[in-house]
Parts: sequence; C-alpha cells; structure tokens
Amino acid sequence: MNVLLLGSGGREHALAWKLSASPLLTKLYASPGNPGIGRVAELVKLDVADHSAVAAFCQEKKIELVVVGPEGPLVAGIADDLRAWGIRVFGPSKASARLEGSKGFTKDLCAKFNIPTAAYGRFGDLASAKAYVEKTGAPIVIKADGLAAGKGVTIAMTLDEANAALEACFDGAFGAAGAEVVVEEYLTGEEASFFCLCDGATALPFGTAQDHKRVGDGDTGPNTGGMGAYSPAPVMTPEMTERTMREIIEPTMRGMAELGAPFAGILFAGLMITDQGPKLIEYNTRFGDPECQVLMMRLKDDLLVLLNAAVDGQLTHMSIRWSNETALTVVMAARGYPGTPEKGSVIRGLDKAEGESVQVFHAGTAINGGALVANGGRVLNVTATGKTVGEAQAKAYAAVDRIDWPQGFCRRDIGWQAVAREKAGA
Ligand code: AMP
Ligand code: GLY
Repeated sequence: MNVLLLGSGGREHALAWKLSASPLLTKLYASPGNPGIGRVAELVKLDVADHSAVAAFCQEKKIELVVVGPEGPLVAGIADDLRAWGIRVFGPSKASARLEGSKGFTKDLCAKFNIPTAAYGRFGDLASAKAYVEKTGAPIVIKADGLAAGKGVTIAMTLDEANAALEACFDGAFGAAGAEVVVEEYLTGEEASFFCLCDGATALPFGTAQDHKRVGDGDTGPNTGGMGAYSPAPVMTPEMTERTMREIIEPTMRGMAELGAPFAGILFAGLMITDQGPKLIEYNTRFGDPECQVLMMRLKDDLLVLLNAAVDGQLTHMSIRWSNETALTVVMAARGYPGTPEKGSVIRGLDKAEGESVQVFHAGTAINGGALVANGGRVLNVTATGKTVGEAQAKAYAAVDRIDWPQGFCRRDIGWQAVAREKAGA
C-alpha cells in the first residue's frame, strides 16, 4: 500500500517510523516531512492548502491512504476534498474537526449531550464578555474560539488579567480565531491526555499520556506546545478510563453522529481529573505532539492496519495491544523557544544517542551543507522506554547527554510527578 503522510513535526516522524514497520506498506511519501522522516519516506513538496494539487499527486502515485498529522488541514477540509476525489483519508471531515476548530462548538455539544466540562459562556463582543467575567469572578479562563497555535488560552487569576485577555482577543491578537471567545470556569485537578481511535461509530481507547506544557523545570515559565510527555498516564486508572469513555467519549460519538458529523480519526481529549471525576478541557482531532511519540513507542500492533480499520468503519471487533513499559520523551528546543528560536545551529551525535529502546524523533530540523541543523522551536524528541517511569527517564536523559548541540535546551524533570510517586511507592 502506498501512503502519503502530511506534516513535518516529531509527531509525524513517530507516525512515519511506525508506518514504515508495517508489512502492508509498499511506499511511504511525506510532505513536507523533515530529515528524520526522510530516513523512512520519500519527501515531496506539496502545497497542503491546495487540495486539488494534493489529490493530483495521490492519483499520480497511486496513494491508497493519506494520513493527516496536524489540525490545520483538517479544519480546512482536506479530508472532505480528497474523499471527493475518491482518495482514502485517515482524519476527520471539516464538520467533525470543529471539535478542535471551534471551542464554542465543543462547549455547546457538551451542554447538549450532558458531557462533564467547565461551566462557560460564549461571546461575540467585549461588553457582554466583560459583564459575564464581572459576575463570575476570578480565577477564570479566557479562550479564543478558533485555532490559535496553542496560544489562545489565558488562565486569569484576577479580573484585571481576564479583562486584558478579553481586550487582546477582541483587538485581534489571534485574528479571526479570536472574533468569538469562550469564558469558562477554572478547573483544578491533574491533567491527562486521552486518545481514541474512531471510525464514525466506534471509539477505541488508544492510549494515555501526560504532557508538560510549561517551558521551565518545575512547570514554570510560559506555555509551549509541549516540552515532554510520558505514557501511560498513571492517573488514568481502568476505572477513570471507563468513566471517561462512558461520560465523555461515547456521548461525543453519539452527539456528532446525531449532528450529521460522525467522527472518524484520532480524538484527543484533554482531561482534568477533578474531585468529581474526569472533565473535558478540550478536544483535538489529531494526535498530540509530543504525546504521539510516546504512544508509538508503546504500540505493539501494526499502525497501518489500525488506521485502515478506522477508515473502513471496522473498529468494532478490534483490540489494541500496548507494551507494559513506560515511554518518556524529552523535547530538545532551540534557544529562544517559545519566543523566537535561533535557527541554523549544528546538531551532532544523534547516532550515539539512539539505541535499542531509544529513538530520536526529528521535529524542527533541516539539512544545511550536509550538516543537521536546528530549523524551528521544538527540534528533537529524545524518546526512551523503561520498566518504570524512572528507568525511561534515566535512559532518555542519558541519550540527551550524548547529543552534541550547545545551542539546544530541554527540561530536566520530564515525568517528575510520576517519578516522585514511584519513589514514594504509590
Ligand atoms: P488548551 O490550549 O485548551 O489545551 O489549554 C491550555 C492549557 O490551559 C490546558 O492544558 C490547561 O492546563 C489549561 N486550561 C484550559 N482550560 C482550563 C480550565 N477550564 N481550567 C483550568 N485550566 C485550564
Ligand atoms: N501536546 C499538546 C498538543 O499536541 O496539543
């Protein structure tokens, strides 16, 4: 089977790595890809916004499955347009990608189908949003409705911060994505990322992870796309998983079908595990980055078989096998991230870092004059497996230390909560 993978991050490298191990695969193409992906796929330059050009490429190369990594093309409707050309696509339709593309849409779905989430209001103008904030009080959370590259959320601890965030949103800080805002209750608890593989009717749990969003050790400093992750998430016990499926995922699947937008693809629920149980923080309609990297390290089954089953509506009778080990990934970022990262510094020693249970996934890398260089904010994902979180963490950092890249940095405490729990014997 010929497959085209769209995207260029560490998430896509992990998908490419796993797809390339499938006996079903004839040839993997990736666009735009990155030098790591280039080890297992032929890289092609396609304008992903030009859906007809992507379709024409698929016809020419006899592509039998397109796997869409990031949310942008999904929200723009690439899956619908390719399907209209008769091309099979793993990824949700534009209508069902609204679960990620519009926070207000998802909140209304939760309200309609009784899905536990933070109390909220939706506003299209500053005055009514401010009035709601005034009435509700702080702490409170302000969110731009649309896609804002992970920057559209403000946790406001005071009314002044909340008002400033609302003003920024309606002043166009996030462009069209901020023309509407969701204002919601501040939830407390432990966060977890919960994934399901979906075929429109059936949702199969597809692993759990915990992400570290802040740039600095001890969860300090500005938010990022994610500085590291580990899987499984200890907080997602079998009981919590069962509740999440019953109270959140299954009503979402039924609700989306009822709205005429059955969900097929990866449903990524950002959860807050509160005193009352799991609550939905947000949905993404794609794999998490860097969560995907740790999931792929633990997946024992053939990813291509699973993605095909999701596309063909055949998930009912499938089960998925995972390694019992923990996988942990450390993101190495270029100096300056999450602000403006320095580009062009040379990275050496990756061959010394990789080994039997260690993979280095590329994110923002490029080749310049034959050398591997940094070409983005998050650059490498150093990923290891181990019998415990502590062992996976030790292996990942030993690998990080074998990489020669003075201009890069990483957090030194990925997995700290789980390692502390292991040490305490909990
Ligand atoms: P998002 O971009 O929607 O993933 O939000 C970014 C982060 O903001 C989440 O990972 C949470 O840590 C935090 N967050 C979002 N919504 C809430 C909420 N209602 N209460 C507390 N924290 C939240
Ligand atoms: N790591 C969080 C995300 O992919 O949205």
